[in-house]
Amino acid sequence: MKNILVTGGLGYIGAHTVVELFNNGYKPIIIDNLSNTNIEVLNRLEQICEHSFSFYNEDVCNTDALTNILKTEAIHGIIHFAAFKAVGESVQAPIKYYKNNIGGMTSLLEAMQNQGINNLVFSSSCTVYGEPDHSPVNELAPIKRANSPYGRTKQMGEDILMDCQGLNTVALRYFNPIGAHASALIGELPIGVPNNLMPFITQTAAGIRPSLTVFGNDYNTKDGTCIRDYIHVVDLAKAHVKALQFIAQNPNNHFEVFNIGTGNGYTVLEIIKAFETVNQIQLPYQIGNRRAGDVEKVWADAQKAETQLGWKAELGLNEMVQSAWQWQLQLKA
Ligand code: WQD
Repeated sequence: MKNILVTGGLGYIGAHTVVELFNNGYKPIIIDNLSNTNIEVLNRLEQICEHSFSFYNEDVCNTDALTNILKTEAIHGIIHFAAFKAVGESVQAPIKYYKNNIGGMTSLLEAMQNQGINNLVFSSSCTVYGEPDHSPVNELAPIKRANSPYGRTKQMGEDILMDCQGLNTVALRYFNPIGAHASALIGELPIGVPNNLMPFITQTAAGIRPSLTVFGNDYNTKDGTCIRDYIHVVDLAKAHVKALQFIAQNPNNHFEVFNIGTGNGYTVLEIIKAFETVNQIQLPYQIGNRRAGDVEKVWADAQKAETQLGWKAELGLNEMVQSAWQWQLQLKA
């Protein structure tokens, strides 16, 4: 299984996964409609890998285009990242999210059916757990109503895969990806005001934002701020290689989910402190109101991925906050 179509392959997680696929002997073919990234990422990928990748500026909702690409490139497996992913935006624009995230998934599955391709890794999310009863949360935890249309598109995505017989699929439930490739040539590239914590921290440290607002410090946690399982994006990317290997080694598998997290939970204030200490920077922040839809605490039990995928996060918080800052500094340059 060499030729792998990476939808959303110029996005934050997609680009880092293209590097790891290439490093492991796969031939990644990239499709991206550039709605949430920049074509410069392709140049950076070619710089990192010293290889020119096949790239298609197409929308996954265009089933005919997808079908042709699957045929032309003799695709054997797909990693499906292409989706909108801003929790807050999805609350404001639910139809946009259902049209793109669900429409894109069904379009891809139709194209796969057209070409007799069954192997798929799906980019899912810990948001499928909603507010879990306790953490660490494992894959057997009840799926609760997600706190946002974004989370519901991930829940529906998994349901659609379970309903489609004949597929060989793995859904990876990401926790909170942060950090950047060691080269600082690729990283998180939010367009406009960042939704996520880490890009807001790095833009504040870079003087692009005057200060960071911590969304609430009255939660039932050690310092009152929310807890998340932050994972280095390179560790997350490597999990996709392991997922492809799992699919190849389990041809009769239909659908399997794995939590991809470190198993460690950190509060917002702990992340700020780590960023300041590792990068020797003072970060201006103030405490604000809670953000609607936020989960109080969630972190992963990732033992299933360790035992069945042979994957475990290797990079720690220091590498995460240092690489995030090095990427921001490169952006400023
Ligand atoms: C983290 C914490 C905020 C910004 C993300 C992705 C989602 C999914 C899960 C993959 C929260 C706090 C944030 C700020 C803050 N990933 N915060 N000030 O909400 O956990 O969701 O991970 O599918 O796609 O969005 O991540 O980084 O937005 O927030 O205090 O300016 O940081 O309240 O507690 P979240 P986040």
